[in-house]
Amino acid sequence: MVTARGRPGRGDPCQSAGVSAPNTANTTGADHDDHHSQYERRGINVEISVTVNGVTHTNDVEPRTLLVQYIREHVGLTGTNIGCDTSSCGACSIHLDGEAVKSCTLLAVQADGAAITTIEGMASADGTLHPMQQAFMENHGLQCGYCTPGMVMAATSLLKENPNPSEHDVRIGLEGNLCRCTGYHNIVQSVLACANK
Ligand code: FES
Ligand code: FES
Repeated sequence: MVTARGRPGRGDPCQSAGVSAPNTANTTGADHDDHHSQYERRGINVEISVTVNGVTHTNDVEPRTLLVQYIREHVGLTGTNIGCDTSSCGACSIHLDGEAVKSCTLLAVQADGAAITTIEGMASADGTLHPMQQAFMENHGLQCGYCTPGMVMAATSLLKENPNPSEHDVRIGLEGNLCRCTGYHNIVQSVLACANK
């Protein structure tokens, strides 16, 4: 896994979380049928329970399911975007147990038992925007908006660690999040404005 700011984090999506596919070297005839029955016997899906924005979800998932896919396709929250699927862009940043992480770098099974916050969970129940969302709006910190959910999640985590960052600190802190519209100046100004509120 890679954290939202590009640092190594816990877990590794290349590890199969203890569930491995059967040997498929010979996939013809009776052996092929045997392999199918192995899947059935072993149960290819894994039950996980994850709290997302305060609501606990229990689902059967394939072990290969990425956390971002789980959030979008099983939980149904599509505010978390997929920009690259390869831990490069930060569009999929969420908070996992309070830390910003890139959710395409984790398997859903690795989040079993965790508490997740997505962009949908940032505003108050009455619709009042999170201060970081408000700062992005007031400082024109978004253009097409595709990177914005990930930027907001990474930026709030940044201010939690460093409540009074310099402009340089913000630029370094958000280096793992890319904006295809290249709106970095206003994104940085938004984060600084939020910090100075
Ligand atoms: Fe996860 Fe780009 S989609 S880092
Ligand atoms: Fe378009 Fe950042 S606002 S990708």
